Amino acid sequence: MRKRMIAGNWKMNKTFSEAVELASGLAKELADGTGDVDVVVAPPAVDLKGVAEVIEQEQAAFALSAQNVYWEESGAYTGETAPNMLEAIGATHCIIGHSERRDYFHETDEEINKKAKALMAHGIVPISCCGESLEIREAGKHVEFVVDQIKKDTEGLEITDPSKYVIAYEPIWAIGTGKTATADDAQEVCGAIRAALVEIFGQEIADGIRVLYGGSAKPDNIAGFLEKEDVDGALVGGASLKADSFADMVRSAMA
Ligand code: 13P
Repeated sequence: MRKRMIAGNWKMNKTFSEAVELASGLAKELADGTGDVDVVVAPPAVDLKGVAEVIEQEQAAFALSAQNVYWEESGAYTGETAPNMLEAIGATHCIIGHSERRDYFHETDEEINKKAKALMAHGIVPISCCGESLEIREAGKHVEFVVDQIKKDTEGLEITDPSKYVIAYEPIWAIGTGKTATADDAQEVCGAIRAALVEIFGQEIADGIRVLYGGSAKPDNIAGFLEKEDVDGALVGGASLKADSFADMVRSAMA
């Protein structure tokens, strides 16, 4: 059985003190535990240490994720962060391949694949994003496009524990637009992702990999997504920036 995951991607929001405040608020909201739901928050890089301290001090029921990583161990890569640096401050997860990074920073599937390998070498769980543009969706090529991303992003990965690799399907046209995919739209692609994972890794591993939906997921629509067979949780942007709305989404997943 796959454990549900609700992950909050704070994107480029929250100064250090604001991040600490949000993490503390969330720790209080979730003080009674999160049942069998894995909860993850992904603050900006400069806020990671502050949120790690809140998690430790308040014994918070959520894990820490970075939003990006570089695949080299160290060296002359100005502005980048290595996996061992994330590990050293207590990040256990890292988002990779978000469409905003693919789009604005021209990240390729080959690079995303290298990032996944580098993270996994340090025991950090990649939350690897995929998803199609509106143009591709309107051309009816979304399933084919996303499956191709999955094949490239997972190329050569050795997964022995499927709970340690997570995929997030985020249709680009639904991100930050208020335009959500329907639960059936999400299932169509998440189901195709699962079928591709069976081909790549075999049934047993594929059955254990969580596939999240992301794109205008909110407290009032999350339940519909979670009902779907191949949707194992959500990667939440805007609605993760307030402790109460994010905690509501966690509670929906616990129900
Ligand atoms: P929104 O929930 O703000 O649409 O963002 C989704 C997302 O991109 C999460 O990574």
